[in-house]
Amino acid sequence: LTSIRYKTQRGPYAMVTDADVRFFESLLGSSHLITDPDECESYNIDFAKTVRGASQLVLKPTSTEEVSAILKYCNEQRLAVCPQSGNTGLVGGSNPVFDEIVISMKLMNKILDTNELTGILTCEAGCVLQDLDNHLSTVNLMMPLDLGAKGSCLIGGCVSTNAGGLRLLRYGNLHGNVLGVEAVKANGDIVDALNALKKNNTGYHLKHLFIGSEGTLGIVTKVSVQCPPLPKAINVAFLGLTSFDKVLKTYYLAKRHLGEILSSCEMMDRLSIDVSINNLGMKNPLTSREDGHEFYMIIETAGSHLVHDEEKLSSFVEKAINDDIIEDGTMTNESKKLEAIWGLRERISEGVLRDGYVFKYDISLPLLSFYKIVEVLRKEIRDSRIVRISGYGHLGDGNIHVQISIPEYYEDVAAQLEPFIFEYVSKCQGSISAEHGIGFKKTKYLHLSRSSSGIEIMI
Ligand code: MLT
Ligand code: ZN
Repeated sequence: LTSIRYKTQRGPYAMVTDADVRFFESLLGSSHLITDPDECESYNIDFAKTVRGASQLVLKPTSTEEVSAILKYCNEQRLAVCPQSGNTGLVGGSNPVFDEIVISMKLMNKILDTNELTGILTCEAGCVLQDLDNHLSTVNLMMPLDLGAKGSCLIGGCVSTNAGGLRLLRYGNLHGNVLGVEAVKANGDIVDALNALKKNNTGYHLKHLFIGSEGTLGIVTKVSVQCPPLPKAINVAFLGLTSFDKVLKTYYLAKRHLGEILSSCEMMDRLSIDVSINNLGMKNPLTSREDGHEFYMIIETAGSHLVHDEEKLSSFVEKAINDDIIEDGTMTNESKKLEAIWGLRERISEGVLRDGYVFKYDISLPLLSFYKIVEVLRKEIRDSRIVRISGYGHLGDGNIHVQISIPEYYEDVAAQLEPFIFEYVSKCQGSISAEHGIGFKKTKYLHLSRSSSGIEIMI
């Protein structure tokens, strides 16, 4: 259980009784509540199978009023709750630690309004990100965020964790794109801050308190999002490089050559791409070197003129090859090939789980020391049980994901990694969490990224 691995004590909360279950049954109807231990299982374990709770009750509200009634009751009865969205989080923030009641937001999945002219979408928190994107594409709009987990993550969880993803470089984070939220506080009070105005300087912007607060201030029930127009042309370059120094040079060149149409700049080291190729059987589109490349990059453009954008991207790739910055590269705007290239990147997170147990670190670092952490770990943590130490991520956002995989969880390997990694990141003036949040796993390291006065305000 999570509590054993993380040495945590259960808080002084009440235990769920039959009377509590009866109350929730009368509130939600018996089909919107789960008590069967087998059915509760998937709500108790995270996507990467690193944390596990022991909840015996999952509630599935269908309205804000039901969320409010659940929280009011739990608050009065001192019952602990764990709000859960798509359960794709990687820091143990979305599943229970002990026997907390899971409040699953899955059934609150109505799209309330879409306006093609203003680009504003209003929906309930349980809408799947991919479904929203598909819906928006019918009116020539898109979601301003895109993640590997888009097929199962829910928008409320994205907002609550301020999820970043693959195109933050272009569209910015959710503090900018979310115009308003409706949320329910722990005592059941409903906070209506859903107003979908771009400008509204009438005091505190309450939405910001809920964006990225991971459910600590309340459960997000509705959101309104500013959505950009769907670009007419997407072009992607997939590049192979020999060193991280050249990765940085390529990023610099891409910003200057592609300017306003640059929509993504991702990097992956050899061992990260090996995950997709060897563990998932995907194909490397670069074939000039049989043994592959040390580093790979995906540079994407999103614009309004296919030929114009293609010209820009190919002149950038040509310059990078002529200046000997990249070793090999391929470009495409065909949807099947785009999907295949993005698949290599997006499925790393899924593929690495085939190695066994994965220690994952989502960190921000200044660009010049962005990749050093991987080299330092490879030097410092020499342990024959380790399958791979790899790094990939959102270069354009200064956000690297470091993965250390081993066949199974070993306490002594965990002790070698933590707090070492977090202290290293802190020394480099980085952040111990870039886009995945604090969750359950990082609370005790918060002081390495936040001042004590800042933490005091949060508590
Ligand atoms: C990603 O960029 O792929 C996601 O943040 C998930 C991960 O780090 O594995
Ligand atoms: Zn990421």
